[in-house]
Amino acid sequence: MLNSNQQTPRIICKNCALQLALKCYELHWWFRLVREPLLLGMRLLARWHGIDVRKHVVRNPECYGCIRFMKAELEEKSLTFRLLNDLIGKEFSELRDSMLSKQDLDEAKRYAQEAMETELDLETPKINKLINKEKNEMNQTIETIHKRKGTKSYTTEQVKGQDLESIIFAGIAGPTARNTQNRHFTVVQNEEILRQINDSVLSLQTSPVNRFPLYNAPTLIVVSTPADYQFAEQDSAIAVENMTLAATSLGLGSRYLVSPTRFLETDSGKKIKQEIGIPEGYRSIACLIVGYDADPDQEPVSRNLNVVNYVK
Ligand SMILES: Cc1cc2nc3c(=O)[nH]c(=O)nc-3n(C[C@H](O)[C@H](O)[C@H](O)COP(=O)(O)O)c2cc1C
Repeated sequence: MLNSNQQTPRIICKNCALQLALKCYELHWWFRLVREPLLLGMRLLARWHGIDVRKHVVRNPECYGCIRFMKAELEEKSLTFRLLNDLIGKEFSELRDSMLSKQDLDEAKRYAQEAMETELDLETPKINKLINKEKNEMNQTIETIHKRKGTKSYTTEQVKGQDLESIIFAGIAGPTARNTQNRHFTVVQNEEILRQINDSVLSLQTSPVNRFPLYNAPTLIVVSTPADYQFAEQDSAIAVENMTLAATSLGLGSRYLVSPTRFLETDSGKKIKQEIGIPEGYRSIACLIVGYDADPDQEPVSRNLNVVNYVK
């Protein structure tokens, strides 16, 4: 789930120590007075040895920063910890477990087992890998989110009317700041106009990498808002994301584009804006191209997972 510059957790959890401790806190107020000073001591020792438990990669977000990682590293690095743990570790666990029912202990065991079974494959911390692993358990919306990709090649088949409506309505269903709902959707399917926009976008590019900035998609949807609208980008981006997810779920390819808006806001672009019916005084903000994916086997690009931290 987290981090790619991680340390390998070589830890087998037979039960979830945190769950057990929390349950004991619930049952006996004084247990805190026993455990917290010990925990503080461990934290100080860990700091002394430069141990950062947040570096350990976890599959289950609940395990992020778990003291088990700290314990494992201290076992390795600290003689003081080993001596103290030999002295009181066993007694502490026995005291804790004696307060709990069999049901509590079983629950903590089951929780730990589940977390262990979903251990992250550290060699390939890529979202694609996670999707494949969990595909059968995933709900449809989450699967659609992970399946979406910015499609770069399209067949000539046009998007069916009903699908197009569903896509647009998904865009309209997105939230807007203060519920202003003042973004407008322009659907362009006219081949000549699409070609014109494509060529104009191309001509604006200083070092074009692709002769088809609209990727020959049969449909272009332009989202525009009043020119002075404060949340234009946010509302439009949400609308485009909703539409791209709807398109994915309908088996269509799509791609978020801003490049056409750069052209549409030039002097010559403004003529086309008028021609395609973008309301007077509106600025084009974001676009979506949609069509049938000509390369459906192409996998979504992998994601860097090293972008999360948890504060608890
Ligand atoms: C705000 C935004 C603007 C984008 N503009 C363009 C664009 O003008 N041209 C283009 O080919 N792709 C554009 N993209 C698509 C991204 O390049 C693409 O999403 C990214 O490479 C990640 O690939 P994925 O969509 O397959 O996950 C844009 C994406 C976003 C979010």
